[in-house]
Order: sequence, then structure tokens, then C-alpha cells
Amino acid sequence: MGAPSSASVRERLSLNSDWRFIKGDPPSNTVSLLYDVRPQGRGRRGGFGAAPEVAGPATNAVATNAVASTPPVVIKQWVLPTGNDSIKDPSRKFVRPEGNLGGDVSYVQPDFDDSSWRQLNLPHDWGIEGPFMTNGDADTGRLPYYGVGWYRKKLAIPAKDADKSIFLDVDGAMSYSTVWLNGQFVGGWPYGYASWRVDLTPYIKTGGTNQLAIRLDNPPNSSRWYPGGGIYRNVWLVKTSPVHVAHWGTYVTTPAISAEAASVNIQVTVDNGTAADSAVTVKNEIFELTAKGDKRKSVASLAIDGVKFAARQSQMNDGQITIKNPKLWSIEKPQCYVVVTSIERDGKLLDSYETPFGIRTVKFDADKGFFLNGEHVRINGVCDHADLGPLGSAINVRALERQVQLLKEMGCNAIRTSHNMPAPELLDLCDRLGMLVMDESFDCWAAQKRPGDYHLLFPDWHEQDIRAEVRRDRNHPSVFMYSVGNEIREQGSERGNQILAELIKIVREEDSTRMTVTANNRAGFSGFSPDEYVFGFNYEPQRPLQYAPYHERNPLVTILSSESASCISSRGIYLFPVDDNKSGGGMPDHQMSSYDLYAPPWANAPDVEFAEQDRYPYLGGEFVWTGFDYLGEPTNNGRRGTPDSSRSSYFGILDLDGFKKDRFYIYQAHWRPELSMAHILPHWNWPERVGQVTPVHVYTSGDSAELFLNGKSLGLKKKDRFEYRLRWDNVVYQPGELKVVAYKNGKRWATDAMKTTGPAAKLLLEPDRNRIKADGKDLSYVTVTVADKSRLLVPRSMNHIEFSIEGPGEIVATDNGDPTSLESFQSPERNAFNGLALVIVRAKEGQSGTIKLTARSNGLKETVVRIKSESVN
Ligand code: GAL
Repeated sequence: MGAPSSASVRERLSLNSDWRFIKGDPPSNTVSLLYDVRPQGRGRRGGFGAAPEVAGPATNAVATNAVASTPPVVIKQWVLPTGNDSIKDPSRKFVRPEGNLGGDVSYVQPDFDDSSWRQLNLPHDWGIEGPFMTNGDADTGRLPYYGVGWYRKKLAIPAKDADKSIFLDVDGAMSYSTVWLNGQFVGGWPYGYASWRVDLTPYIKTGGTNQLAIRLDNPPNSSRWYPGGGIYRNVWLVKTSPVHVAHWGTYVTTPAISAEAASVNIQVTVDNGTAADSAVTVKNEIFELTAKGDKRKSVASLAIDGVKFAARQSQMNDGQITIKNPKLWSIEKPQCYVVVTSIERDGKLLDSYETPFGIRTVKFDADKGFFLNGEHVRINGVCDHADLGPLGSAINVRALERQVQLLKEMGCNAIRTSHNMPAPELLDLCDRLGMLVMDESFDCWAAQKRPGDYHLLFPDWHEQDIRAEVRRDRNHPSVFMYSVGNEIREQGSERGNQILAELIKIVREEDSTRMTVTANNRAGFSGFSPDEYVFGFNYEPQRPLQYAPYHERNPLVTILSSESASCISSRGIYLFPVDDNKSGGGMPDHQMSSYDLYAPPWANAPDVEFAEQDRYPYLGGEFVWTGFDYLGEPTNNGRRGTPDSSRSSYFGILDLDGFKKDRFYIYQAHWRPELSMAHILPHWNWPERVGQVTPVHVYTSGDSAELFLNGKSLGLKKKDRFEYRLRWDNVVYQPGELKVVAYKNGKRWATDAMKTTGPAAKLLLEPDRNRIKADGKDLSYVTVTVADKSRLLVPRSMNHIEFSIEGPGEIVATDNGDPTSLESFQSPERNAFNGLALVIVRAKEGQSGTIKLTARSNGLKETVVRIKSESVN
């Protein structure tokens, strides 16, 4: 009917490129802006303390003399109104004070000359550039994430946009963001993990250039881990007609599903930004999506005419559509659909808005655990932090995709986004790849864990943050529950129960189809509706017999392990004698033995949690702490990092670079019983141990195995009930070959071998992908292996390697997974750590061709690998 294409009625443009950035406030700042008065006190827990001094990296322009000449202006009354759309009670909404906040700060002025500032593209994390501080806070990775940072960007807005509503959508900025356009204060949002929108319309100049300025202010002592600093997620400019689908304005549910039909309920909230009532047609059309997310065929559609939306109001409209023979979303076959909602008036298309969704049922049963589409599924999950290791917090879709793929390879079916809402792209990937998500919001409520953490925001912002999270995430089939808190200090108290009741209520108001959970380290909470609330235990086996008494006291409440195991190890490190006491396994150089038996006092080896899960069939499953090592929190056996020690954690099943530790295979053996596999540890290069007892452990999905050393059988072992590894603890070391043959139900099932290698002879370079897109974002992860002449990894090698790159690519980061390494992630040189190093190569935008990566190391053969960068169209 000749309606304009959707692109011209709603545009969503990436605003990631070409920003100017500087650390610190203007040198002669007359006004210093502060969100709120900061609590006084000293030291890490007593108050904010001072941010450690750090020299800015050469590439970061840093404003000096950033000392305010006047006392700071407290700005929270200006920022709070930005969250009004996510406040339900009209009397609680905030009113913006008169005047223009910060209008006299030079950095917000349209004509300010920012040409000396650093030019960069988003997403950006200023902390990951370091340098590491040996005396810095190990919990936050010894990296300078804190302080003030300013970003400026010019926006050309054509004259034809004069009648448009124009919004800035920020997926996440760390933290305390404030936004100005053309010198006018627009709004802001303090929580660094929230996604938010500000309305630029009143301040936009159409037919000209507009100057955007964003200030961030990361307080020191505001996190228990490395949070990153900067605009670390994607930023969008959204242009719509004044009558348009509201921000996150759709809510798609599937109230009835059978093999023959699924009824799809689509609630659409429309903002009518005009001064007149509007009668429009709301049309919803559903398409099946391909695995890549492209629209396939239209499967159902419904148009409702004459829907009235009052002037300057937001209102909802409900429509119901039936899809015949629906294809369900599952972990194995993650089929997705998309609803295209169009708003038309008098035959003219006003808006077109797409909502991907999936059709599936999730159900929790207090006696039997978790069910997806009516089938019992044990939650084999991991907790993960948001950082992407050497890339820091700056999100990258390929880096996230690689993480999800590695976890799936292990048999993991769920991720807990500990302890904050994730980047939206992670949820898109989990929808597409088939991974469940426990979507978590907070690490604290009103009581602090760190003096500068979210407890300062909780009273004013928890409603806005939770509502925004649920509205953003409720259509993702992967999201199966919301966690509203981790080890909250108020848990179990009367105040804690009141807060939890309120948070559950907010979640249910926005999404009544999913359960709320909290991750508890005390078995306190109870009395919430079992139809709305799941109880998560952190480290239950540490407090023996908690699952059973809790289940007895609360027989209707589903329980699961929201944090399990928390075993610690450094990839490729083994300590002798092997000590079965979990507090053993630590090395004086802050490395942890990889026999996977060691954990801090509150935690356990993987086997302990497996046994609990198998013993109590009513448990929903577990989320292991953690899938990947992360920046900060280097807890090696209860001994937190000392001033000269580590930068990153030891908890990961995979290391900071995504290299598999031995532990990967005990999970794979247990979580993928159908996969024939066996894995031997340790490596077999121990010249100093000839004749000494050197225990050998085997992880296999088989039920028994026979171990051979240099062809001689060391006996057949069988797994007992509640046993998850096979152990030959008295093997006397002789160089040569260890071989294991695993059996299942009496049949040969899998083998693995571990050989003593020769000396290091060469470097192997293996890209995970040898073709990438020339879009300035796509990555190839190149594994660098120090190998002997038969191409076997030489296990204890730490050779120094230098990298160089030619062609249309760049090295974005290098690393080796060593938690104690304080080498810069941006360095083109790196020592191998136990035979491995990583180079992350990014394609340059718009430049296709061959990228050539060269690795050189003294005494080893130089190696080259080629990666094709392919044009996007
Ligand atoms: C838990 C906490 C996590 C992490 C973990 C380390 O108690 O919830 O955030 O600190 O301990 O084992």
C-alpha cells in the first residue's frame, strides 16, 4: 500500500565511531560536579578513600590540575528525573530543578576545541589500558578504572528530521553518566551496568551539527571486582515519529503452547508525543527467524484498527495471535521468531518495531527441579563476570560469542550474569545459540560491601534499575529467571525480607512469567510465594546438610545452587606432593595447583557439588563459580592477593584467555555423558621427579578406565557412586607415554595420551577463525603454542615471544592466562605461560585483504599465520 520502508520511520544508528575522550575534569573547572555527597571515612571499607595515583598511558590525554576551585555541586536532583519512566507511582517521580546544570563547564560547550583529545571508537574501557599498579587494589585487578572521563561527539542531524523524536540509547557506561547536548544538560544514569535512554529532542538542532558531551565519574572503592571505566557498551541514536512504540515498549508472552498451536500475546506501549489524540492501526506480524537471525517466512499476523492513544501519553494495547505448529526454543534447537509491530495512521506508516522472542515453557518444581518445554533439565551452569579478559570490559560480540561457544562445548547450559545485568548482545547470543540466562542485577542492596558501591544508589534507584532491566530483557527466550541479589547483607533480616518482597513485586509487574531468585550464603529467606521465588544457595556443601533441612522447612520452594564449587587453579601448574586437603595446592609464587582439589574455606572442588546435586534430586542444578577467570579478586586459597601478586582470579574453569584448564574436562565428562571423552592430568614432563610418586587423575564420561605407563598397565579403576574422577595416586614417574583407555558399560569408550615432550623447537599459531569480517570489530583469537619438533605442547615453557602484524588487521591484545602477569595487555610481546599465549587480532574497518601475523622467539623457528579479512557486503 505504498507505505514508506521501516528504515525511514524508525532509525537506530550506531553512534560508536569517532569520539573524543579525555580523563579528568577541565583544568580550570569553575564547577565541580558530584552526583551526591560521598560518605567520609578512611580505608577500603570505611570510606571512599583516595584513588591511587597513576600515570595515564601515553595514548590517554589526561587533564592535569583537575582540582575544583569551588566546593562540588551535588547533581542528583538533576539526574534522577531521567529514570521517571521506570517509576510506577506518579507521586515518586522526580522534578528537574530550574536552569541549566553544568552549562558553564567548558567541556560541554559546543565551541570547545577538543581537537587535542584522544580520538577513539566505542565501546571503550579506559581502565584496561593500565598500567597495572603493583600496589593497586588486587580485587579490582590493579587497574585504574576509577576517576572522571569525558567523551564528546559531533552529531549531524539533517533538516528532514525536524519532526522526529530523537533519543540517545546507552547500553552501558561505567558510571554516573551525565549527558549534555549543545551545552544543555539532558540527563543521566548512575548505575554502570544499566541500559538507559535520554530524550535529545528538546535540545536538537536539525539541519546542523550538534555537540554531545558525556561525563562519567567512577568512584574508587566502588566494586569488589574489575568493573572497567568508560562507555564500554554500544551507544545508539534512535529517530522515530512522535507517535511511536515506547522504549522497550513490547512484551511478548506465550500463554498457551501445544504441538498444534501457540497463542502469542503482544502488549505494545505507544508513546504519543503529539498534542493531539491519535487513532491508529496497530499491526503485529510474526516471522520465523533463521539461526543467524534473518527473517524467514511470515507465520501469522493481526491488525487492530482504531486504537486510540491520548495526547502526550503512553498507553498499552494488547493483541493475541495464534501460531500453528510452533517450533519451540530449546537448548539444542534454539528456534526464534520476531514480531514486527507497525503503527499506521490513515494508511501512513508511523513506526515499525521488531521484537525477537521464542516459544518455550519454563517451570520449576520443588521436588523435581527445572523443566524446559515439559522436559527435565539439570541446570549445568556457570557464573561469569562481564569483563572479556584481555579486552577488559569493552564489549565485543565475537568475544562474547566465543565464550558462549566454549561453554556449550563443555556442556554448560546456563549462565548467571554475576552480579549485574549483562550487555544486551549476550542475551541475543544466548537466544541464538541456546543458553539459559539467570539475569542478575545487584551485588548489594542498602547495606554496603564496598564504601562506594551500589548501596549508595539503592534507595533512590533500585526500582528504575530493575524495571529497566526487566523491560529490556523480558522477551529473550534465554532469560529464564531474574536474580535480584547476590549474598545481600540484609538477607534473613526483617528489613531484607521487606526489600525482597518489594523487588519481587517490581519484577512481577513488568514480567509475570519468570521467577525471581536470590543467591544466598545464609539459609534465611523464606515465606515468599513458591510460584514467584526460587531460593539460590551459594556454597551449600560448606554448610553441610543445608539443602535437606531447607527443603524440609520449605517443601514448596524450588532450590538450586546459585554459586557452587569455586575451585581454584592456574592452568598447567601442578604441585607435589598432591594434598587432598582443600586448603593445600598453593605455590609461593601465587600459582595454584591444577589437580582441581583446592578451594577457599567457603568453597569446594567440583566433585563435592556433583555429589550433592546427585544426592538431592529436588535441586534445580548448579552455577559454578566461575566459567572464566576474570579481572580482579585473585583469591588463591583464601590468601587474597598481596601487593606484588596477582591481577586476576583463579576460579575459572577456563583461564582469562579462554584456554581450557584441566577442570574443563571434569565438567564436560559430567555434563556431556553422551560424548566419548577422556582427559589425563598432569602433563608428563618431570625430569626432576624420576622415581617419585606423581599422581595421575583422569576425567572421563566413561565409567571405568585403565591407565598405562610406557605400555605397562597400572590397573583398571571404576567410578564409585558419587565419584567423578579416576585416580592413580601411586604412579612412579618415568618419562614416556601415559595412556588411558576408558570404558562405558563394558565397552571401549574413549582414550587419551600424555607424552613427555622434547625441548621447545617451534611456535604454532592457530587462529580460531581464519576468515573474519572487515568491520572494525570482528576478531580472530590466535593460540600460540610452544611446541617440540613433533608439534606437542611443551608444558612448562615460558618463552618470550614477539608479535608483529601486517595488512588490514591490528593486534588488540595479547596475554597468556597467568593470573600473576602484570604485563600490559596491549603489549606486542609476551611470555608464554605453560606453553601457551594468545594474540587477539581485529580486522580494520572497510579494509579487506590478508592479515599476516608473525611470531618470533629466540632459538625457535619464526612462524607466520594468515587471516583473511573479508568485506562486509
Ligand atoms: C562469593 C561471591 C562471589 C565471589 C565468590 C568467590 O561469595 O558471591 O562474588 O566473590 O564468593 O568465591
